[in-house]
Amino acid sequence: MSERDAETLTQITRQEGYTSSDDLLNADLVIINTCCVRESAENKILGKIGELKKLKEKNPNLKIAISGCMVQQPGALERLQKRAPHIDIWAGTHNLHDFSALLHQAEQGGKVAEVWQEPKMPLESTPQAEKGKLQANVNIMYGCNNFCSYCIVPHVRGRERSRKPEEIIQEITDLVSSGCREVTLLGQNVNSYGKEFSPVYDFADLLHDVDQIPNLLRIRFITSHPKDLSDKLIETVAGGNKLCEHFHLPIQSGSNFILERMNRKYTREYYLSRVNKIHEILPKASLTTDIIVGFPGESEIDFEQTLEIMNMIHYSHAFTFMYSKRSGTLAAEMEDQISLDVKKRRLQRLMSVQNVKSLAWREQMIGNTYEILVEGPSRTNPERLVGRTRGNELVVFNGPSELIGSLLNIRITEAGTWTLVGDIED
Ligand code: 5AD
Ligand code: SF4
Repeated sequence: MSERDAETLTQITRQEGYTSSDDLLNADLVIINTCCVRESAENKILGKIGELKKLKEKNPNLKIAISGCMVQQPGALERLQKRAPHIDIWAGTHNLHDFSALLHQAEQGGKVAEVWQEPKMPLESTPQAEKGKLQANVNIMYGCNNFCSYCIVPHVRGRERSRKPEEIIQEITDLVSSGCREVTLLGQNVNSYGKEFSPVYDFADLLHDVDQIPNLLRIRFITSHPKDLSDKLIETVAGGNKLCEHFHLPIQSGSNFILERMNRKYTREYYLSRVNKIHEILPKASLTTDIIVGFPGESEIDFEQTLEIMNMIHYSHAFTFMYSKRSGTLAAEMEDQISLDVKKRRLQRLMSVQNVKSLAWREQMIGNTYEILVEGPSRTNPERLVGRTRGNELVVFNGPSELIGSLLNIRITEAGTWTLVGDIED
């Protein structure tokens, strides 16, 4: 979501005549689009803000903007402004569309800060994804109503708002005309898309309609909240042509006690029943997840239950995090916070379990053939090409650059924890 916002900021600044540069020392404008989901992200940003002060001393014409979630947190702006008076523009998550106006004021030599507490702009005026790229992220909704007790997102992104299907379909059709072949539909909880619509039109309906867009090759979506993952959605993915059989289904914890304290509104049994349903309808679907260790009150037994579930479910990848206290959330007020040492130890154990599982998942792919969308040269080995399976697994292979943007069949020959190696099938 933040990546998509950063793209919007890039587009706005381009329209204002700026071009991208790798030369930080001579830049006229630096924007840091921030995240605040965990303290580690915030600390990195604070470090960067400090470094930029030195840059501004060398280049007094430099304008610096800090935008996004970190700025949007209740009470954060005043604190940040005091700490970093050298910043020219502060813009909250609800103010990105108006960035050019803020930029004009800063160019005149002023310091500006705009952080609306609520989104005031109509959804129709939200900037569209950048054209001309093979892959695009498309916002289908904004905000979140779930208030998981650890999470700052609902506090900085506001309540759920769904874009109209016609607008989403038009945006994707335009993207496809400009060369896009894969879209990822974005929402904090895509499964509650369209809840406010009458007549009824839900996320499965949207997927079905996006699947009809000609010349689009693939459709992905993130993130699915397990509590709202309907049979209709799984069946729609199964019945689609371009709908990729991959579900990012964050479990967060394998303990019912912790899930309840997290306010996730499902039990491990319910989660497992959803996974079983996916496998029943789509036996080859890939699953990925997010897990937090060291949530307040998590005992060794609770943690063991998370490990147990990781061993039961064949995730192709898991994003694992240590719980990070976010002020303003319910969990930050809970008494039984877990020490950093314990959190680190649990994270290590979890990661070593998942690494074995990820490798096993990829090893069972060896010898089989998968459809790959060729993305471009491999970052680690630019002589080779890289692409993804429908399940979102990364595959490296030899081939000419003319293949970029096309679908190919690749037979997997080698597997690692994170990537696969394969050969083009004749
Ligand atoms: N601490 C640790 N991880 C968190 N996440 C969200 N909030 C926190 C927090 N306070 C994780 C969740 C979510 C992912 C995007 O980030 O696992 O799914
Ligand atoms: Fe945060 Fe929960 Fe909303 Fe995801 S569903 S953004 S974890 S509050």
